[in-house]
Amino acid sequence: MTDFSSVKDKVAVVTGAADGLGMAISLCYAENGMKVVVSDINVEKGMKVVEDIKSKGGEASFFKADVSKEEDVKGLVDFAVETYGRLDGLVNNAGIAAENRPTHEYSTQEFDKLLSIDLKGVFMGMKFAAQAILKSKSSSGFIINVASLAGILGNSSMAIYSSAKHGVIGLTKSAALDYAQYNITVNAVCPGTFRTSVWGQAPEEVINEYAKIFSPSGRLGDPKEVGHLALFLASDLARYISGTAISIDAGSSAGKITPSRWSNPEILD
Ligand SMILES: NC(=O)c1ccc[n+]([C@@H]2O[C@H](COP(=O)([O-])OP(=O)(O)OC[C@H]3O[C@@H](n4cnc5c(N)ncnc54)[C@H](O)[C@@H]3O)[C@@H](O)[C@H]2O)c1
Repeated sequence: MTDFSSVKDKVAVVTGAADGLGMAISLCYAENGMKVVVSDINVEKGMKVVEDIKSKGGEASFFKADVSKEEDVKGLVDFAVETYGRLDGLVNNAGIAAENRPTHEYSTQEFDKLLSIDLKGVFMGMKFAAQAILKSKSSSGFIINVASLAGILGNSSMAIYSSAKHGVIGLTKSAALDYAQYNITVNAVCPGTFRTSVWGQAPEEVINEYAKIFSPSGRLGDPKEVGHLALFLASDLARYISGTAISIDAGSSAGKITPSRWSNPEILD
């Protein structure tokens, strides 16, 4: 039987873990026996995630870190090692989106800000975590970088976000080769459209309408589904997977949808 018990007691840092996909990954890791450092700029929500994990018998700690600040990222990795004595993995999940606009309407300040979080933050996370994982002599180290469908395909009105996420995939592939002989896998996951706080207070019917247009499956992804993928990549079942950008998007990145009429629609009845 195949199971995920190999992750038990592994120590992982998850950034942007107070909400959305990072929270779902942290909960999934803790449920499966991993020790999780939940990190975010939002202390209140981050602490709630830790309390939730602990109330279910899991092991977690919170560390406030802004991933765009080098001293914070170094402090985060040091905290993980001081708290749990080692580090096995990092999920570079923290990220922000930009308002949708044509390329010429973005300011260079907006570009710098977004890239300092979505790209430089990922680089710095890898830089410090890789050293800590190597020093921990982890036999199954892993780094997971949360990119996006926008890291695989260009997107109108999303030039700066898309450039950062394409960069994340470049960092991932290169670092995977740097550490392939040293027991650290490095992969990117590329979510399509998930039901997280990016939707704000949008009404349910607007969300459903969007899902019908932009998701081939007609529904938005559930953050838990990214949690499950991240669990697999953290487990020993995935040791031969490195340097890839794995889409989790119900087929959005596979190509265009062309409407067609089925000759036997009754098979759906
Ligand atoms: N939700 C989606 O549909 C989707 C699709 C593709 C990619 N992604 C990517 O997934 C990741 C998570 O997105 P989400 O939808 O869960 O977002 P979210 O807004 O729900 O959660 C992001 C978390 O990151 C934290 N954060 C923001 N800036 C930070 C910083 N500088 N340092 C540390 N933490 C910071 C926020 O406080 C928040 O808790 C992002 O990298 C995003 O680009 C999301």
